Amino acid sequence: MSAGTLAILGGEPVRDRPFVVEPMVDGEEERLVLEAMGEKSYSRYIGSATPDIEQILGLTSDAATAIESHWHFLGGRQVRRFASEFAAGFGVEYAIPVNAATSGLGVALAAVGAGPGDEVIVPAISFSATASAVLMFNSIPVFVDVDADSFCLDPAAVEAAITPRTKAILIVHLAGNLADMDAIRDIAARRDLKIVEDAAQAIGATWGGAPAGTLGDAGVFSFQESKNIMTGEGGMIVTNDPDIARRARLIANHGEAVLDDHHQPDDLANIVGFNFRMPELCAAVGRAQLAKLDAVNLWRTRNADRLRAGLAGLPGITLPPSQRAGNTPAAEVPHMLIALYDARAMGLDRALFVAALGAEGVAAGTGYPRPLYGAPTYLRKIAYGRRGCPWTCNDSTVAYHRGQCPVAEGLLDERFLWFYHIAYSSTEADMDDIARAVVKVVDHREALARAAPRLQAALRPTDQGRLALAPAPLGND
Ligand SMILES: Cc1ncc(COP(=O)(O)O)c(C=O)c1O
Repeated sequence: MSAGTLAILGGEPVRDRPFVVEPMVDGEEERLVLEAMGEKSYSRYIGSATPDIEQILGLTSDAATAIESHWHFLGGRQVRRFASEFAAGFGVEYAIPVNAATSGLGVALAAVGAGPGDEVIVPAISFSATASAVLMFNSIPVFVDVDADSFCLDPAAVEAAITPRTKAILIVHLAGNLADMDAIRDIAARRDLKIVEDAAQAIGATWGGAPAGTLGDAGVFSFQESKNIMTGEGGMIVTNDPDIARRARLIANHGEAVLDDHHQPDDLANIVGFNFRMPELCAAVGRAQLAKLDAVNLWRTRNADRLRAGLAGLPGITLPPSQRAGNTPAAEVPHMLIALYDARAMGLDRALFVAALGAEGVAAGTGYPRPLYGAPTYLRKIAYGRRGCPWTCNDSTVAYHRGQCPVAEGLLDERFLWFYHIAYSSTEADMDDIARAVVKVVDHREALARAAPRLQAALRPTDQGRLALAPAPLGND
């Protein structure tokens, strides 16, 4: 039994210092940003049609760096170098820097051919951007349940959701866990579907030795500040398919502005011009960050392993097995550590447990507030305008309702405990503090249960109808 009264009941907290989670930044980011500024290079994008535009659109990321001009349709020098270094690191031909993973996902889906009325299969659990990216080109998200161990798409549920309108499967490798890529690739091949991977939370994770994001037709990474490596805001699309790369480059770069009159309708479909470019200074930061990818991922992995060990064997808390320890081809890189809570075994409501942890100085999350389809956009089908587009505009009969993905709802409503603080610069000593706080609350669960009626009154309902007392989770993921 750990000593002391629970902080929520008036005792001393395990921890009174905040956890420091921040990007791993040193002089190299600054050096490269200054290099870009020294080159007076801030965008250097050139957007007008040039006679060699078709050839430029087909250049591999490596070949694009050989062109000496500062001005380029594929971006300035830093952007092209970042693309080339990223492509080399991930073993792909084409890497396309963008301003965010959200826009990157929309571009990638459009580039593989998902357009108005096409259905795109999406897991029920992800950050909202995964689903809104599907709406970008008026495709229809079809939410599918997740596997109870990986929290990623359940292949059997994917197969069951396919209709004649299905165009693509948008896989999310949640929290750095890999979806079952063998099964999903098999389905996609048999049913003639495209695969786009949302690897925003899984940069560096692998399947059969190949990086997440390179396992389908196109993959997308996020460099938003909370991600394993960052550019402030930013993202990267990767592919080995020259046609997808060409289309993605056009969509992200004012598309129609550089197309001439001779293109066929299929070439033009979805090529509406936007500006989703990454600025030069962000690319400079990205180059320095890329060189730290292994170090930051090792940091997260080591902390996650330490925390796993500290949380092992507690009543009411289960740790899904690490994919690195299993016998699948997957090797996850934990973006956060996900544990599963069992209220009955603990004898306590999860909100109260999390509130007691918060009082001990340890913030734990309970996952996204609802399954993706629980947002009003889907439940009420209000996306574009007030008349139900893209559903009504495309005669879609896809419906959304509570209860449609029971595994996902069970995880979100009752079971998830997310520990965010495994990232740099938290230390193994910090992990020990988290574990100590969890053990303390577990040890004193009976006293907490006795105080529950009084404490429940202090918990405030969130706008999702859950109870919360603990600090809000970090980041936007
Ligand atoms: C799974 C997932 N997809 C997409 C995004 C969106 O990324 P971005 O913020 O770069 O647009 C995020 C995080 O923010 C995410 O966690």
